[in-house]
Amino acid sequence: MSSRVSLTRYLVEQQRLHALIPANLRLLLEVVARACKSICQAVNKGALGGVLGTAHSENVQGEIQKQLDIIANEVLIEANEWGGHLAAMASEEMDGIYVVPNRYPQGEYLLLFDPLDGSSNVDVNVSIGTIFSVLKKPEGSAGVSESDFLQPGRQQVAAGYCVYGPQTTLVLTVGDGVAVFTLDREQGSFTLTQENVQIPPDTHEFAINMSNMRHWDTPVKRYIDECLAGSDGPRGKDFNMRWIASMVADVHRILTRGGVFMYPWDKREPDKPGKLRLMYEANPMSWLVEQAGGAATDARTRILDIVPGKLHERVSVVLGSKNEVERITSYHARL
Ligand code: AHG
Ligand code: MN
Ligand code: MN
Repeated sequence: MSSRVSLTRYLVEQQRLHALIPANLRLLLEVVARACKSICQAVNKGALGGVLGTAHSENVQGEIQKQLDIIANEVLIEANEWGGHLAAMASEEMDGIYVVPNRYPQGEYLLLFDPLDGSSNVDVNVSIGTIFSVLKKPEGSAGVSESDFLQPGRQQVAAGYCVYGPQTTLVLTVGDGVAVFTLDREQGSFTLTQENVQIPPDTHEFAINMSNMRHWDTPVKRYIDECLAGSDGPRGKDFNMRWIASMVADVHRILTRGGVFMYPWDKREPDKPGKLRLMYEANPMSWLVEQAGGAATDARTRILDIVPGKLHERVSVVLGSKNEVERITSYHARL
């Protein structure tokens, strides 16, 4: 008898033991995991599947879409629209919300996703992923509209990501810590490989796109300068740098061995609060990081407390090892 725990068993036990997962949320998470397996197959085929390259179209953010951005978006919609668990979906790749069509029953959940995170890495065979966030539709509202989605991240009922790398790994929280599942390609199922993930509070590793240095705000520059000064500087220790340019892969490293990830506001586009999107990138990642004992702020306030004003709102992100995030946030507070 194998003692391996599948994603299904994990979810059933969470439902039974902790009453954290109603049946429809369990269905939703299983469907998202199934969609991630399909996306994984498309990613793995690469040039053989004709999925590389750009799609010659733009999304609502004005970014050129990759073919895989569109494929992953379609896979997630087709997998999720018919099950009766969702009222609507929202995605980085769609301007407005996608309401579940009338021919299917309407559920009580709202699903948000970044179908393919790290698009610039698709063609160069570097880890990419899918990020998702689940909210409950507010009670009493008839139908469903964009305003139903505009809830702070602390109201998420589930969040996670799947990283398509040397291993395909699904990382999930339903508010009871962080669990990691690895895709067993022979069995075709996600198997629990780590529970109760903990991010060490201290680190000597930071992740930031250094090419933007000249555009940074003073506190960010101060923090990185102090790291770069190493054992000769005020921190008294040497730091290492990593930047994969796929948030999923950078956050996965931080959940695995600690570190701090930053995509701060900068002077390139001063009217935008940051590059990353609050509702389907920063919120799910921030909840995972907090559930693993880390912290996440927009350099001033807790990300999960931000009330979104619009679906595709952007935000500055500082997340990871708690003491480091608090240090960076305190540098901003003194301004
Ligand atoms: P996406 O591919 O979904 O648009 O997200 C890319 C994001 C994020 O994954 C990554 O951390 C960051 O953009 C990389 O930005 P730079 O290219 O500016 O380094
Ligand atoms: Mn992304
Ligand atoms: Mn994306």
